[in-house]
Amino acid sequence: MSTTYNVVLLPGDGIGPEVISEAQKVLELVSKKSADFDIKLTPYHFGGAGIDAAGKPLPDDTLAACKAADAILFGAVGGPKWGFGKVRPEQGLLSLRKELDLYANIRPALFPSESLLGHSPLKPEIAKGTEFIVVRELVKGLYFGDRKEADLDTPGSEGDAYDTMVYNKNDVQRITRLAAHLALQQNPPAKIHSIDKANVLATSRLWRRVVQETIDTEFKGLEVDHSLVDSVAMTMVSNPRKLNGIILTENMFGDILSDESSVIPGSLGLLPSASLSGVPDGKTRCNGLYEPIHGSAPDIAGQGIANPVGTILSAAMLLRYSLCQPKAAEAIEAAVRKVLDSQDVGGHGLRTADLGGKVSTSEIGAKIVEELEKLL
Ligand code: NAI
Ligand code: MG
Repeated sequence: MSTTYNVVLLPGDGIGPEVISEAQKVLELVSKKSADFDIKLTPYHFGGAGIDAAGKPLPDDTLAACKAADAILFGAVGGPKWGFGKVRPEQGLLSLRKELDLYANIRPALFPSESLLGHSPLKPEIAKGTEFIVVRELVKGLYFGDRKEADLDTPGSEGDAYDTMVYNKNDVQRITRLAAHLALQQNPPAKIHSIDKANVLATSRLWRRVVQETIDTEFKGLEVDHSLVDSVAMTMVSNPRKLNGIILTENMFGDILSDESSVIPGSLGLLPSASLSGVPDGKTRCNGLYEPIHGSAPDIAGQGIANPVGTILSAAMLLRYSLCQPKAAEAIEAAVRKVLDSQDVGGHGLRTADLGGKVSTSEIGAKIVEELEKLL
């Protein structure tokens, strides 16, 4: 009997609907070709589109559908139309993360194809072979701790401000388990690089000890090492291959390191991401929100030139982590690689404008679907 997975599509704003439409075709093909499962895709309003349709960025029916879904594929939100008003599209994303307790943000830094090496801001010989996944704790730490705003307007006020970073054992254990399962999904199992600032911060000393103990007791045989965040920031651009495997870190360090890593492959349009609420152990499904790392790109919206690869690779992550369908995920990744490696008649490569090509969003999407058809 075949299972039906319910996947919510949140196209959002700007180029969001353009890139989601290509990923939708990819998922529809996977569904059609699989004898074991079907994927039911249902679009909902979100972000600016939610504000226009229902007066808020995360309309009630959208939230209910996301909670009930097996997974969510999201494009991007935001744009000048909604400006910096009281109700902003981006608020929808923060609410959704909170409502679904998406405690882990996962961002791979990899080259979907070696033929893209020339687009990296790093020298090809340094960038070559970079393949790591940043696992960032997303709901604790400095961004969620007790804080005080400075009062700079009252005469005599000292103008002090503070933010606090709080982690407890459970917080560190659950993100470590998640990272360990991601490591185990690779063959051979990936090495875990845990990043902290244990020479200064108490939360980091807790982090380091709990990460090591969790691996030692629950994941014997997995390799883990510990490094300081400032030194890793240098390694990431001087010798990124050294970080291959899983980078495991807390919220703020992960925010900074994942942005740093995202420039290595050369275009924002290439990279996928996932935010997960369960443990992706390859057997039990966990809910997750999957999205390209880029925003709504208002400067190119409506022109049909956005790169859909990051969204299509997000759909592959969705299949791997939320639907436990690694073979379909690998097939999508292989199809993307094939298309990026191939040449069009002018010898430019089948690429969108961000990678120096001339191919449209829907042309590259159709090409990926064509290659995938051969692989499934
Ligand atoms: P952005 O990522 O939308 O665009 C930055 C630059 O990269 C632009 O020049 C854009 O044309 C280009 N770009 C982005 N994605 C591309 C793609 N797939 N193909 C080709 N080129 C691409 O970031 P920006 O301009 O800072 O933000 C625009 C809007 O998006 C803002 O409203 C912002 O708040 C929102 N945003 C939303 C995010 C989300 O929905 N997760 C994340 C980041 C920003
Ligand atoms: Mg950031």
